Amino acid sequence: MKKFLTLFLTFTMVFTLASCTSKAPETLIEETKPKEQIEEIIEEVIPEEIEVKAGVFWYDFSDAFLSTVRDALNSELDALGIQYTNYDAASTQARQNVQIESAIANGVNLLIVNIVDTAAIDAAQNITDIARVADVPVIFFNREVDDSVINSYENACFVGTRAAEAGEAQGIMIGKYIAENYDDIDLNCDGYISYIYLVGEIGCYYSDATIDVNLEDHPYYAAFTSSQTNVATRLLNITTPKIELICSEAPDVRSMSVIPYCNAVLTMANKPELTYYDANNTDKYQPSNWSKTTAFEIMETALSTNPMDGDAPIEVVIANNDDAALGCVEALNNKGWNTGEGNTIPVFGVDYTADAAAAIEEGKMVGSILQSATGMAETIADLVENVMNGEHVFDGAVEVFNVDEDANKIRVPYEIKMKEEN
Ligand code: GAL
Repeated sequence: MKKFLTLFLTFTMVFTLASCTSKAPETLIEETKPKEQIEEIIEEVIPEEIEVKAGVFWYDFSDAFLSTVRDALNSELDALGIQYTNYDAASTQARQNVQIESAIANGVNLLIVNIVDTAAIDAAQNITDIARVADVPVIFFNREVDDSVINSYENACFVGTRAAEAGEAQGIMIGKYIAENYDDIDLNCDGYISYIYLVGEIGCYYSDATIDVNLEDHPYYAAFTSSQTNVATRLLNITTPKIELICSEAPDVRSMSVIPYCNAVLTMANKPELTYYDANNTDKYQPSNWSKTTAFEIMETALSTNPMDGDAPIEVVIANNDDAALGCVEALNNKGWNTGEGNTIPVFGVDYTADAAAAIEEGKMVGSILQSATGMAETIADLVENVMNGEHVFDGAVEVFNVDEDANKIRVPYEIKMKEEN
């Protein structure tokens, strides 16, 4: 914005000078550029304020976390005073493609896209190509888009989180909580903790991703343990294992990292690794598609084969997002568990939605990983403002945000959230 003003003033002065000198002797007039030419130069060099008409394309309006992002983004865009329309793809990529094509035909000059299909890079590439042909910037958000797609168009960028981070932080949180409360959690006293795990969805574009980390070096590990004394001290004195994840074996890196990180912390605390509640299930995860209803159904079925009053109860619930965690809480409630008092097993999610925060407060869930809906919305709004000012969509982002090295991708940080006394 400042840059814009400086340029504007400089050219205003040149222009004024040119107008004055036009009354001067002929030689001087010849050296001075005609008014039209100066106007042309101004147009080229000074970015023009643009009347932005944005299309915001959501993969599914029914997604709980994204509804909070939508509320936050609506407020931001309202405050910017731009015209915008929200579109619901209802989980159908073909529908989103049509919405984008017709929005562009109707004069939309900025695309803000929450892509539906993340299983392959084609969908995002296709939208990027459409944006390039129409010469409009595209801001992808939340649902990850491959680096190669972002790098294929200079006006494409991404705002989201680093998905693996949520899994890593969640795994550390769960491992530590279980290590500290092992005997209480081991309901059937068999020495093992039996878990159910609900992943978000099947679909992975990080097929080559390998994560090889030393847990002690992990930022969440340090942040999480610095304020603790008991278990943390013990954990840190034990040799840390290296965790290697090969993403092609599972849906996405958030879902991949939770259990290995949790098991690493348990190993460090001299505790056995978690055991999956259903020995016959080789995947050891079930996709809930981020949905509370689907998670509720999965949990109901699991509780029918492994009842809480039987020999092999489920002892911990791990979900890739809060809505799925809350679906499991509801299924447990129907059996008289996790009502906020009495019989309770630990339930963990990701997002820290208002409902999850309340459930944690009431003792129905133990913890979540905050994903900032407002942080995401504010970041997108900053990029929109660039477009409004006629600047490049990603202008200044590197100085202000946490940006990837290999592509124009901004990463909004996560935060571990548990009840205070935990
Ligand atoms: C995740 C979020 C989920 C769901 C999903 C949709 O980041 O944790 O709750 O909203 O995005 O892609």
